[in-house]
Amino acid sequence: MVLNIVKYGASILETACAPVTNFNTSELRQLVDDMFETMYAARGVGLAAPQINVGQQLTVIDTSSGEDPAARLVLINPKITQQQGQQIGEEGCLSIPGFREDVRRAAQVTVQAQDVEGNSFEVSGDELLARALQHEIDHLHGVLFLNHLSPLKRELIRRKIKKLQKAGEW
Ligand code: NI
Repeated sequence: MVLNIVKYGASILETACAPVTNFNTSELRQLVDDMFETMYAARGVGLAAPQINVGQQLTVIDTSSGEDPAARLVLINPKITQQQGQQIGEEGCLSIPGFREDVRRAAQVTVQAQDVEGNSFEVSGDELLARALQHEIDHLHGVLFLNHLSPLKRELIRRKIKKLQKAGEW
């Protein structure tokens, strides 16, 4: 089922998520399926649970946009354990549609996470995958890509969004 994506302004997007403690449940599997479906429908490469109004440490990523089944990643309670280098590149967010900005990220990261069964695993990535991992894990801590911009740029975008909200276009 395609779920509604929460937009910037909703407090859940800026609230730290609780760890997932119940694994291997049909609810969790359904949630993961729905998140992939929602992400593909919105043409995103990552989606975090708070974006569908669920305050849990769960995110899905697919940098192949559905082309490569092996690229499907489900990360539960993920933590960045190593990071290296720097990259600057354009970033957007399904919860902040219409806005894209250059964001500085680590070039390479290693993440420790759990799968739907609760098994721990590690994933490493660079380039787009590294960016997606950092962006989605940020979401689980209530951090948006806007928080990585200069205060001036952030304020400019906030004002534009406020106008859109007032006009009922957000
Ligand atoms: Ni996002």
